[in-house]
Amino acid sequence: MAALLDARQVKVHLRVGDRIVRAVDGVDIIVNAGECVGILGESGSGKTTFARAVTRLMPNVELAHLSGQALFEGRDVLAMGDGDLRRLRRHGSFSMVFQDPLSHLNPTRKIGSQMEEALRPAWDRRGAKARAAELLRQVGLGDAERVLRLYPHELSGGMRQRALIAMALAPEPKLLVADEPTTALDATVQIQVIETLRRLNRENGVAMLVISHNLGLVAELCDRVYVMYGGKVVESAGIIELFEAPKDPYTASLIEAGRRLLQPGYEVAS
Ligand SMILES: Nc1ncnc2c1ncn2[C@@H]1O[C@H](COP(=O)(O)OP(=O)(O)OP(=O)(O)O)[C@@H](O)[C@H]1O
Ligand SMILES: [Mg+2]
Repeated sequence: MAALLDARQVKVHLRVGDRIVRAVDGVDIIVNAGECVGILGESGSGKTTFARAVTRLMPNVELAHLSGQALFEGRDVLAMGDGDLRRLRRHGSFSMVFQDPLSHLNPTRKIGSQMEEALRPAWDRRGAKARAAELLRQVGLGDAERVLRLYPHELSGGMRQRALIAMALAPEPKLLVADEPTTALDATVQIQVIETLRRLNRENGVAMLVISHNLGLVAELCDRVYVMYGGKVVESAGIIELFEAPKDPYTASLIEAGRRLLQPGYEVAS
């Protein structure tokens, strides 16, 4: 199978005050075309920093060190100039979906105008409008014409997250990187978003890198999982293999904690 994303020895060290945090410290992760791969790990293990580095969406942080390669279809995204990066983003590459949709939507503009902007210049005005509606339907927002006329605050949390996924699909990405895509949502809405992601992967062939500290979410969606701890990958395995015979003690404790949470009497954790 051809690797869509082949990240090799990615290191991202951050300067935080007078400390250096080795947020990502030599990570190798591969996502093949059409595959759904998970990154599991506790808070602070470096998942988001890795995802932002390989999609070149680093927030304003002071880098102490950045190295390694993130080969997307063989081309190193980490070494790419701005022009090449823009061209790659515009069509058929990767998109990212974040945890809190509200901070990634413009509150003062209707969903329709934000989506149309994401679709241009590839589509003309009428084409962009039709395509925006089609993308909303694709993520399960059937009443697309109405949703296009709403402002972000007029949508429920689940609708917002799905609108953001629809927007991320505008450049027809081959890889969708979803960072904690359901964390901010309540349980029933989480299921709808998981279904949406699953459909995009299984029916539309969009490869996915799903990042979460939630074992259940990763198990629902992914075929293969990497477990991160302290900026490193401590285990990588098929999802069934991971459950049946975790090799790393940290993975074992993660699974055990997940099982406890699923016992009757516990609320399912987000
Ligand atoms: N902008 C930042 N400023 C300072 N430290 C940061 C920043 N971003 C990440 N870090 C540090 O880098 C390390 C990795 O953080 P990261 O957010 O990548 O972890 P994570 O696995 O995504 O955690 P979570 O599950 O909480 O989202 C942590 O020690 C974190 O404190
Ligand atoms: Mg994170």
